[in-house]
Amino acid sequence: MKALTDKQKTLIDELLEKMTIDEKIGQMNQISPSIVGGFDVSFEELIEMMTDGRISKEEFNNLMAGAKQDFHDDVNRAGGLGSVLISDPEIVNRLQKIAVEETRLGIPLIIGFDVIHGFRTVFPIALAEAGTFEPELFEKTGRIAAKESRASGIVWHFAPMIDISRDARWGRISEGPGEDPYLASVFAKARVRGLQNDDENPENYVAACLKHYVAYGACESGRDYNTTSMAKSMLHNTYLPPFKAAVEEGAATVMAAFNDLNGVPCTVNSYTLRNILKESYGFDGFVVSDANAIKECIIHGIAEDEQDAAIKAASAGMDMDMGTWIYSKELKPAVESGKLDIAYINEAVRRILSIKMRLGLFEKPYVTEEEMHRYDKLPKEHLAHALEVAEKSVVLLKNDNVLPLNKTSKISLVGALADIPEEVLGSWALSGRAKDCVTIYQGLKNAGADVLYHPCCGPEGEINEIEVQAAISEGDVIVAVVGEFASMSGEASSRADITLPGKQQEFLKMLLDSGKPVVAVLMNGRPLALSWENEHLPAILECWHLGVQMGNAVAHILFGDVNPSGKLSCTFPAMTGQCPMYYNSPKTGRPGSKSKFTSRYLDAPIEPLYPFGYGLSYTSFEYSDMNIQEEKDCLKVSVLLKNTGNRDGAEVVQLYMHDVNASIVRPVKELKGFSKEYLKAGESRKVTIILSKDQMGFYDDDAVYHLENGKFIIYIGGNSKECLEQKITIV
Ligand code: GLC
Repeated sequence: MKALTDKQKTLIDELLEKMTIDEKIGQMNQISPSIVGGFDVSFEELIEMMTDGRISKEEFNNLMAGAKQDFHDDVNRAGGLGSVLISDPEIVNRLQKIAVEETRLGIPLIIGFDVIHGFRTVFPIALAEAGTFEPELFEKTGRIAAKESRASGIVWHFAPMIDISRDARWGRISEGPGEDPYLASVFAKARVRGLQNDDENPENYVAACLKHYVAYGACESGRDYNTTSMAKSMLHNTYLPPFKAAVEEGAATVMAAFNDLNGVPCTVNSYTLRNILKESYGFDGFVVSDANAIKECIIHGIAEDEQDAAIKAASAGMDMDMGTWIYSKELKPAVESGKLDIAYINEAVRRILSIKMRLGLFEKPYVTEEEMHRYDKLPKEHLAHALEVAEKSVVLLKNDNVLPLNKTSKISLVGALADIPEEVLGSWALSGRAKDCVTIYQGLKNAGADVLYHPCCGPEGEINEIEVQAAISEGDVIVAVVGEFASMSGEASSRADITLPGKQQEFLKMLLDSGKPVVAVLMNGRPLALSWENEHLPAILECWHLGVQMGNAVAHILFGDVNPSGKLSCTFPAMTGQCPMYYNSPKTGRPGSKSKFTSRYLDAPIEPLYPFGYGLSYTSFEYSDMNIQEEKDCLKVSVLLKNTGNRDGAEVVQLYMHDVNASIVRPVKELKGFSKEYLKAGESRKVTIILSKDQMGFYDDDAVYHLENGKFIIYIGGNSKECLEQKITIV
């Protein structure tokens, strides 16, 4: 996105001069179409009926498809709308025409939508894509998503979601880049570059929206929307870094989170919104609330009524109200009664207008008929990228010489998830289309496999024993697709038990009893507790929800056409009870050990099942000759990496550090760099990763950044557990 030109700055000043207070407040109002029914119960009742199972999701969707919607044309015509949350290009043009041609000042709407991991070409969920450890992929995914959505008139993505999450019970872990602040920061910057790219052609870029600001992933006990509280040092060392990095990359907007942070909801939190984001980080875009969040400040118990909520939000730095109409109703009387300074409104409107101008909306507010249909058929280069990211997101968790499969072997494919097209899309893929989805079953057929398919069992419901018997009698090898429905992760999808849902474990036992090799292919949106599976299954592939090319990617990995190279962006606990569990935790004074009086459970292992950064390959890699060369402002850490197997492969070399003795306790390890290396069979390469000394500090409880001398341990290896290490003292 271009920077504001001086001419545009002048235009904004002139507009602000001309605008009435009603027109200003209109810019601060984002709506979704109101469902006005067309069915014999209220929309809320319909939601209840779907939630408690009186109607199925399909029935709900069919009813919604036919529902009448009110887009509030009259309010729009009066200049009362600043933004609309929709994705239909015909409607975009219709509403935009009213805003541009029928209002007094002709200010265009900014159309926003949830495009988290692709628009029409849906890519792997972010939790999976982060595991490729390839920033160029993160950027290209954003670039493609921006192009495709802009052709539908969507110029603003409510993405990237960059909430650090350390608790696999939280369903929204699926939407973000995992548990590590460094990897998440690299992901955030690359995605913003991708979304807001191509300064020249406004058909190619959109405004990014960093969410959910901030520390939403720290919701207590992994329960969505729950309270969060933490020391300022934790906030600045763990949860803020991806936002800081992405603001420095030029992110255009930020979405405030639902949760209260240390007692103050993020929607009205002037410390995070004004002191940190707008002042300390110099953020010059605008902040939008999350859906309905301004109204929920009353429920939180921080606002007495809607006017109090409006005043608290606007003065804290909340520029745009998503979906409550409270700004429209309450800001004007608040200003007129002297309870709110008009300066807050002017600041918000200035920020909103600046993004609208930088998006080129004043010059090109509409989409053409050609644009609307440009992506009816997905371009092959978009599909090629989707396949590449999907293949590289797959993590090989276990392989007792069962994989790769021989193309001639007779495969019994089982598991309901293996052939439900839209299940490959994962959470928040609202604009994906089932017709574009390649299921695992389809992918195996595309690869020419000799495959027979029996669903047998899914994440819910019973086991079809007849199908199981057929499956285990037919194939030489059984490929069992198990995991979660896409609806079991994402928003409002916390799980108190993160083992395989339903009867899938019992199903796997039945398959194993056949004595035939069983390969588990996981489709899931969060880490799962797989101790039993890891003990009994000879091979486990973590395949997440990989998007439209899932089936082809999984087939290529299963047959070894592609060597798996993904690494875990999040820790897999051995048991749910270990949550929250993450690698970069403090040592404590009694690190867990065999001794009883140490930080451990009586009834659970000390270690996770699979650690952050873990992932196997069909080949093997060896690390040796670690060396640290200290320069004035950095450490040059090198290692000799050798592909000791008989296949070409890729390895993510990871650099960690531990500050042995500091003025506040520091994590046992912190990722500070990585390098993905593609090596031919037998090839060796010296890999060097630079650790700049200003990366080796931390924030204290006054949010002051410290760089301290002293002892450090530097680690380098293929995951957060197995590393070479060297001590160094920084003077
Ligand atoms: C939802 C989500 C947020 C999303 C917004 C608009 O409640 O919390 O991630 O962007 O509302 O759909």
